[in-house]
Amino acid sequence: MADLRVEIAGLKFRNPVFTAAGPTSRNGMTLLNAAAGGAGGLVAKTVSVKPAEVPKPNMAAMGRGRIVSRRGILNAELWSELPFERWYEKEYEIALGTGLPVIASVGYTPEEVASLAPKIQEKGVHGIEFSTHYVGGHTEIAKSLKASVDIPVFAKLSPKVNVAEVAKSLDRLVEGIVAINTYGPCLRIDIETGKPVLGSELGQGWMSGSALKPIALRCVADIAKSTKKPVIGVGGVMKGEDAIEFFMAGASAVEVCTAAILEGDTVYGRIVSEIQDWLDEHGHSSVEDVKGMALPHLEKGIVLEPPPKIDRERCTLCGLCRKSCVYHAISIDKAKGLFEIDKEACEACGMCISVCPHDALSVG
Ligand SMILES: Cc1cc2nc3c(=O)[nH]c(=O)nc-3n(C[C@H](O)[C@H](O)[C@H](O)COP(=O)(O)O)c2cc1C
Repeated sequence: MADLRVEIAGLKFRNPVFTAAGPTSRNGMTLLNAAAGGAGGLVAKTVSVKPAEVPKPNMAAMGRGRIVSRRGILNAELWSELPFERWYEKEYEIALGTGLPVIASVGYTPEEVASLAPKIQEKGVHGIEFSTHYVGGHTEIAKSLKASVDIPVFAKLSPKVNVAEVAKSLDRLVEGIVAINTYGPCLRIDIETGKPVLGSELGQGWMSGSALKPIALRCVADIAKSTKKPVIGVGGVMKGEDAIEFFMAGASAVEVCTAAILEGDTVYGRIVSEIQDWLDEHGHSSVEDVKGMALPHLEKGIVLEPPPKIDRERCTLCGLCRKSCVYHAISIDKAKGLFEIDKEACEACGMCISVCPHDALSVG
């Protein structure tokens, strides 16, 4: 069986699936529940010098019913609504009681983080993640944290900055990079009322979940190419295969927020066992085995010579590929068991490969 333990900046994690700063890490009890649900590391909700006053409502799914979990959510939550003293006196201690590495999250100015960080370290918390979330000032905050604590410091980046450049500029100041925070601002309207779905200023919010994953993966790969520091991927990890994608893009571990909001605390254990199964089935002995696997291919690129390769054993003639073939190159005759791709009509766009639910088509 693959060994799922990972070590990042000297911290030892039982598995590579951590909580992320958000409502599912908003106090000691939620972190305790996440540990019981199988998380390998505990990242706490961002704290600042004063409690946040959050607009209400502040979370909305991007779709209803079955598509909810596939798309993601918008949120207008801010940092922790609890005063820092409460975290200091009670919440970190509860999380530390799990025996898992605990990473606090702090914001937002160099002065603010410098005033909080030594107290966080004093509590025995193992690491500190800082969130700038579009306010910038990464280098100043990192310097301020470096000067105030000895525990590992992680910078959490927003997708709108040039993540490769920021990561490079932080190379000597942090022990790791976390990518990414939510994307936005975004908007949704309730068409029955004509009102925004969120209670924030201008009704705007920030996007997370599946829709964020391709942006997060690109950021992780950009960062992994620009620094040797460990990268923790976050954004749209809903299942084990998502985590594998992040590892292949260069991540050493992943954080999970939206999937935990939608599914509950057992999500971490489910994702961990899906990672385990995938690694075992593919003959890998650890996360390290697949880490960064995609990076050389990103440099070289890939080319599809038409038509895509067909695995006839796997093809069920379901016809999904034909529906999405805008070049009308695919013909299927279920009665005769026929599946053909017209080489002349095929423009090698690759769409059919990505929609096939049975992996019957490939670049080859
Ligand atoms: C409701 C909500 C609250 C969040 N609060 C914080 C926060 O306090 N600090 C922070 O750095 N990120 C915060 N995030 C961002 C998440 O930690 C994570 O970076 C982002 O949601 C992408 O991951 P996901 O797709 O797994 O949710 C929040 C996200 C959500 C959905």
